[in-house]
Amino acid sequence: MELKTNVLYYGDNLDILRGHILDEAIDLIYLDPPFNSNRSYNVLFRESSGAGSEAQIEAFEDTWHWGPSAQGVYEEVVTGPHQKVARMLQAMVDGLGHNDVTAYLSMMAIRLVELHRVLKPAGALYLHCDPTASHYLKTLMDSIFGTLNFRNEVVWHYGQRTAFHKGHFSRKHDTLLLYAKSAKHRISPISLPWTREDFLTHRHDVLSDADGREYIWTDGGRGKPRYKRYVDEVLGKGKPADSVWEIPIIDSAAKERLGYPTQKPLALLERIVSASSNPGDVVLDPFCGCGTAVHAAHKLGRRWIGIDITHLAIGLIRRRMQDAFPGIAIEVIGEPVDLAGARDLASTKPKQFEYWVVDKLDAHPTGGKGPDLDGVKPFMEFGGKPKRAVISVKGTKSVNPEMIREVLGALGPDKPIGILVILAEPTKGMVAQAAAAGFYDSNGQKHQRLQIMTVREILSGKRPSLPSPASPFAKAPLEKEKGEQGEML
Ligand SMILES: C[S@@+](CC[C@H](N)C(=O)[O-])C[C@H]1O[C@@H](n2cnc3c(N)ncnc32)[C@H](O)[C@@H]1O
Repeated sequence: MELKTNVLYYGDNLDILRGHILDEAIDLIYLDPPFNSNRSYNVLFRESSGAGSEAQIEAFEDTWHWGPSAQGVYEEVVTGPHQKVARMLQAMVDGLGHNDVTAYLSMMAIRLVELHRVLKPAGALYLHCDPTASHYLKTLMDSIFGTLNFRNEVVWHYGQRTAFHKGHFSRKHDTLLLYAKSAKHRISPISLPWTREDFLTHRHDVLSDADGREYIWTDGGRGKPRYKRYVDEVLGKGKPADSVWEIPIIDSAAKERLGYPTQKPLALLERIVSASSNPGDVVLDPFCGCGTAVHAAHKLGRRWIGIDITHLAIGLIRRRMQDAFPGIAIEVIGEPVDLAGARDLASTKPKQFEYWVVDKLDAHPTGGKGPDLDGVKPFMEFGGKPKRAVISVKGTKSVNPEMIREVLGALGPDKPIGILVILAEPTKGMVAQAAAAGFYDSNGQKHQRLQIMTVREILSGKRPSLPSPASPFAKAPLEKEKGEQGEML
């Protein structure tokens, strides 16, 4: 099996890791698994009744509940060959009960074992989490990586505005647990700007030359004479990054904001990639969301692999990378490439089928809620007036005229065009019904008001007829890639 890089995998990372990623193939792993830490502690630890609480893993619903799938992975871990993690997980579940936190820990344990397997001996892993579960995760990681391979707890402090709370201090940091696979991992120095005031805060030994230039005496070590270091030279070299990283959160006005709720700042990922990998290395993000880690990796001349379980994320990353690095070739593995694949997706994961179709049309998913049906595709009317087409996706084996009536019912002055995407072929009656809906006239150009498209047509490249489409997505700013040596080209 050959390791593919600069690829996105659609699917559950446990399956992808087991099926596609070789042992000791990866230099750096960053993972930011979803966890609903905004819920209160007592809700997270509430005992699960079991039935009816199956894990719901969607991009915007990030809670993992105790249910058959958590129970299944728990049993797999505790009866598996990795005795240390088996005992540790069992102890946690015995002590804490069956709840969201232990479901999350079970799901993580089985994946961390695989991630450890795929890391190279000189590789490292950064697990992004927060204080809700970081202490349990560290214990699990100790049992998988070995206590000696724990390198740092990095505090990502993003606090800007804070507020007084009666019961606790304002929570303004996330935690990154850094583990190396072995003693071989090396961190490249990261130097940060250092102001004179910063430098002088803890020093009372600054002297001045006759010309006023400030200096300090530095111990030469072991019998060597002390030597003079000028403050301006020290400041020029910058200060080494420590384990508290002050990096602002992406605020609502940030250019890099793409609208994915858990998007992390590029600066955070650039620091991780620069510190723990070299140009040409392979970086893996198994929970890649809107792709911040793969973006940072590509920008810094690393190869990369991204995995996500939703087409929402995969579509967004592909677009993000193409906007930032025009002409980039990205292979997506696991999305339907033919009608049989599309049928399979529609029958096994209808929501993902809907996201995939909406993404294919370069439209914005609405999640099937509200008057805009399953997706919207904005276009610009003559004179610069924004309008949109609404999209309805039906992955059923049979189709009926009610589907057309539903789309017609959603049309209005700002939404003059409707697109009905179906997996089955339309009936003659439906085609006639769509034709009877007439045309929308856009500056002399006629577009059918109701357009039926089959998935077969979409797969063969056909697209809806619209007046100049406008992309509904926030554009990632254009990047300059760095070359093999990490230099800007
Ligand atoms: C917190 S987000 C990651 C955000 C990312 N760091 C970024 O900057 O955009 C977690 C992602 O993990 C994905 N996910 C959840 N469970 C998964 C699984 N079992 N396999 C692969 N991806 C999964 C979710 O769809 C979500 O996009």
